[in-house]
Amino acid sequence: MKVLAFAASLRKESWNHKLVVLASEIARREGAEVDLARFAEFGMPLYDGDDDRANGLPAGALALKRRLDAAQAILIAAPEYNYSIAGPLKNAIDWVSRARPMPWRGKSVFLLSASPSPMGGIRGLWQTRIPLEGCGALVFPDMFALAKANEAFEPSGQLRDRALAEKLVRDIVGFVRLAEAVAPLCAGARTLTTKVRQEKIEAALEDESRIQPPSR
Ligand code: FNR
Repeated sequence: MKVLAFAASLRKESWNHKLVVLASEIARREGAEVDLARFAEFGMPLYDGDDDRANGLPAGALALKRRLDAAQAILIAAPEYNYSIAGPLKNAIDWVSRARPMPWRGKSVFLLSASPSPMGGIRGLWQTRIPLEGCGALVFPDMFALAKANEAFEPSGQLRDRALAEKLVRDIVGFVRLAEAVAPLCAGARTLTTKVRQEKIEAALEDESRIQPPSR
């Protein structure tokens, strides 16, 4: 199974990047083929509907879309900004959501975060679930938030706290196994009947008015 992994931070010394590196190593040991990206590879302007209509996805969003298309599962380490999702990640989700077929749909996602604060960024992860699930991603129920990230890493990059390191292994191994199990089901229709049904469901979801009763 192919896994795209990235931290949604542009900082070179990002704690979230260090955390997603560890998660990627665990996923590789579990047999996944991990494409570890830096968020800076997906640089893009703020979403602009006029720009979208005139030019479609900018290069950075297209690059992210292509990397998502090639993966069945995604590890995202997302910083918390002001108790919520960080703007650059929301912007990237918004741009990519304009591509068809929807690149996030049917992709298993595991969310992590790292922060120097005692909360570890968990509040931001609850907000990050919303647009991803809205775009059809299967966000794993468990999430991993690393508190006091500035004190949490050994110089080798491993986590100092053994219990936390073991939890990270349990979470990522569980995620990889579940994502592997659901990937064939989400990979697309295998028969014509299923394909037609899937297209109808997708069309209905695209236009919510079709599944809402008409208003009087
Ligand atoms: C933060 N930070 C932060 N941390 C947190 O735990 N809760 C928060 O609400 C916020 N809010 C916030 C807002 C803004 C604008 C910035 C720049 C930062 C701190 C943040 O967790 C810290 O900068 C991390 O180091 C960011 O992650 P990276 O870049 O190290 O991966």
